[in-house]
Amino acid sequence: MLNHETNQRLCRVGPDDAMGQTMRRYWLPFMSAADLATGDEPRGVELLGERFVAWRDDGGRAGLFHESCLHRGASMRLARAEGDGLRCIYHGWKFAVDGTVIDTPNVADPNFKTRIKGRTFPVREAGGLLWAYLGPREQEPAFPHWPWMDLPDEKRLITRHVEECNFVQVIEGLVDSSHLGLLHMNGLQKSGEVDLGFAQKVNSMQRNLAPRLDVQETDFGFYYAALREIDDAQGRHTEARVAAFVAPCCVLNPNGDIATFVVPLDDGRTSFIHVFWSESLELNRDPLRSRHLEFIGLTPEVLDGFGLTDETLGRADRPNPRNNFHQDREAMRRGESWSGLPGLIEEDVAASVSAGAVRDRAHETLSIADVGITRLYRTLLSCAEAVEQGKLPLGIGRDVDWSRVQGTHGVVRSDDWRELIPARRLAETKETA
Ligand code: FES
Ligand SMILES: [Fe+2]
Repeated sequence: MLNHETNQRLCRVGPDDAMGQTMRRYWLPFMSAADLATGDEPRGVELLGERFVAWRDDGGRAGLFHESCLHRGASMRLARAEGDGLRCIYHGWKFAVDGTVIDTPNVADPNFKTRIKGRTFPVREAGGLLWAYLGPREQEPAFPHWPWMDLPDEKRLITRHVEECNFVQVIEGLVDSSHLGLLHMNGLQKSGEVDLGFAQKVNSMQRNLAPRLDVQETDFGFYYAALREIDDAQGRHTEARVAAFVAPCCVLNPNGDIATFVVPLDDGRTSFIHVFWSESLELNRDPLRSRHLEFIGLTPEVLDGFGLTDETLGRADRPNPRNNFHQDREAMRRGESWSGLPGLIEEDVAASVSAGAVRDRAHETLSIADVGITRLYRTLLSCAEAVEQGKLPLGIGRDVDWSRVQGTHGVVRSDDWRELIPARRLAETKETA
């Protein structure tokens, strides 16, 4: 439970908000690199309550410009794309992707342009994504190098969708193991019947609806473990599924093959990026790509139909809170569907978005099942506090070994799930604490 003031502090991401300033201290992914080609027109991007323009120059360099022109604020979405830079249509000032001012045709002094710098932001291209850093230049952190970034494109499948609610409540669903066997009951039942590695790995979750939960703080965020007693042909044992929350908005799944980034567009809308990867399978090639997307429910048809694309978000003719997300009460009555919603993603979206654009946490009733939720609040608020006090937030400046930060799962006999965590991670945490 959080009072109104603390809840606002947790959720608001604008440039003057505590959490907004905190998020601006990290590299954030904002779009798939494949969605921005050389020769494309400038593309609007929203991030942390501000508007930007993404564009790739004829040298292949991706850039992120503030939407508002350095001169007198005309929109750079209207700019002319001229190969080596974007030229504002109002007075013709022209900017390269690194902020170099190439031309200011309405100013006679040829040296004027060398004294000013365009409103561009550092951009990196890694792991099939474009990443931006929006914070103070002198505080730019080291870029996190995840092992999946080294895989070839065909072994990495990236999806992006948008949801009409605050980012915190979207992340909550990712550190909330106990909803899986209930909200996603039908999907999990089906997963036992299909021949997909991913599906089978999650199948055990429906066998125990009230997992024991535990968390472990780290120098990048926290590990979150769901422990389920399983009684099967091999006897009685404890299965541990351990996810990693990486500040400020990433969750790594217990199977160690999905990274999710939950990046605020503004206070009430969120971009949700999934990176699925495999060392061995070409996930990004058909037929595997289509099968995978279909099982997860992230096909272009689903995203368009449920209003989860930039173009369809908030449209009245798509499922939304005003029309009860087109919930199928008939199917529920017939016992064919628990939620009345068609798939995993739609279920998660309806659960998150139906709580309101920025969920009111003054009237929630948290239980033992919500250990991950309370830890999420505490972790994010502690990052905001650190930034306010001029200290480094979690994961920044701590020399984190990103190759060891991952979700994991396994059977534990001694009940100490921490032994599953990639070697030495916790010891390192203690040393640097
Ligand atoms: S407002 Fe852009 S050049 Fe004047
Ligand atoms: Fe879910």
